[in-house]
Amino acid sequence: MSVRSRPRYARKALLPAGAAAALIAGILVGLPGVSQAAGPLPCDIYGSGGTPCVAAHSTTRALFANYNGPLYQVRRASNNQTTNINVLEAGGYANAAAQDSFCANTTCVITIIYDQTTRHNDLTPAPPGGVGGQDNPVPADALPVTAGGHTVYGAEFSGVMGYRDNYTSGVATGSQPEGMYAVMSGTHFNSGCCFDYGNAETNNLDTGNGHMDAIYFGTLCWFSPCNGGGPWVMADLENGLFQSNTGGSQNTGNTGNRNPFVTTTLKNNGTNFFALKDGNAQSGGLATRFSGALPVPPFRSGYSPMHKEGAIILGIGGDNSNSAIGNFFEGAMTAGVPSDATENTVQANIASVSYGGPSPVAAGTLNPGSTISLRATTSGFTDRYIRHQNGNAVTSVISSGSSALDKGDGSWIVRRGLANNSCVSFESRNFPGEFLRHQNFQLFRQPMNGTALARQDATFCPQAGHSGSGTSFASLNFPTRFLRHFNSTLFIASNGGSNNFDTATNWAADTTWAVTSPWTP
Ligand code: AHR
Repeated sequence: MSVRSRPRYARKALLPAGAAAALIAGILVGLPGVSQAAGPLPCDIYGSGGTPCVAAHSTTRALFANYNGPLYQVRRASNNQTTNINVLEAGGYANAAAQDSFCANTTCVITIIYDQTTRHNDLTPAPPGGVGGQDNPVPADALPVTAGGHTVYGAEFSGVMGYRDNYTSGVATGSQPEGMYAVMSGTHFNSGCCFDYGNAETNNLDTGNGHMDAIYFGTLCWFSPCNGGGPWVMADLENGLFQSNTGGSQNTGNTGNRNPFVTTTLKNNGTNFFALKDGNAQSGGLATRFSGALPVPPFRSGYSPMHKEGAIILGIGGDNSNSAIGNFFEGAMTAGVPSDATENTVQANIASVSYGGPSPVAAGTLNPGSTISLRATTSGFTDRYIRHQNGNAVTSVISSGSSALDKGDGSWIVRRGLANNSCVSFESRNFPGEFLRHQNFQLFRQPMNGTALARQDATFCPQAGHSGSGTSFASLNFPTRFLRHFNSTLFIASNGGSNNFDTATNWAADTTWAVTSPWTP
């Protein structure tokens, strides 16, 4: 079977991943048109270290130097057709242009994230579980980034989104040892349960302590203490997010990791040891946050030994708890516990990719993933910007001399509209996971809880500015109402409606905004 044309639900392969990679390498060598394989990529590195990948998922790049197949499948809204997004070449980056072309003039979601090992541990939208119903797929174009100099798309989860495979091959069960890593993001997270990648129950239910072994990244502080503001890498071992064998952090230096790209790792020998690390995925090494015993009685029972079940989850908890948000770029799971040296080499490879923000665009452009500020254009108020203050959305004067807090409050990350991909949402720069949202026509900064109403209330559709320049933003669910400042407070206002903030006086200017470079990039 060609690695390019795998059937959607292929039988699980029995070949060990390392052997399969070698076989594929052999097949590819000498084929005309196949480009030179890249240097060792994460799963080559794990394989050389004696801990081969049993699952490898990424929407951005190949994780084996010789992988030349699909990374993910997208489905477009216009006619429900699907297509696979492949790597550009063996060991290369995602062919994002193919996605852009297939999804032109419509919207797409990611329906499969393929496993790059021969085991076909592919991830599809997660079914209902003990908590939460059917999960939604992520929008395909919500998270443009650059990797290896290419524009590619990460997977942005904004609540009630998640993936799962309950019928895996080669993933650790019982007390078998395993390791894993994931590249996530310290600018898009929350304290919902549970932004996970790793091993979970095969029946979508909480089946008890030790039945999970997954990386968690976010600010859900399950056991005290948690130091600083997070987000923290933790081990979701079921019925607990562990920073150590005593639950809470034993590391006062671990105040969380807010880098835009964060490498997270977890390894667990299944009987008496686990270790957690994180690092800046753009440069440098990994910091060990915990390395030691698994939790034991009298603190907690059931984790030593573990009772791993071998399903794979992404973006949700083991029982399908699906209120978390987060970003995912790549990750893999191994058979056996990888050495520190192996993990360091994997981190070096991740750093060599030079993950970065979206390609620069002209000022004034609402490019998803880019950070902007929004300046009032009404005469006499053009030094005021939309910012949050005590949870309310207001305008205030922000200048180069303003405090870092004021600048952060006045900076927003543009996201694909949470309820409509053709529109936009604004995520707070300094309160990741919280969005500009209206309620009773007033605007607030509020956590995204994933409900349809919250998504709609946080979605705004840009159009040419009412005053003849700039941009006006229509509320998605109240389309005759536009973002407006009135007495320094933000509302969605109609032109001449019954509320005082609907007054026709200055309505055009008050609803027109200049999209500027961000005060806090
Ligand atoms: O362990 C934390 C969470 O608890 C798990 O992910 C979920 O299954 C349970 O609700």
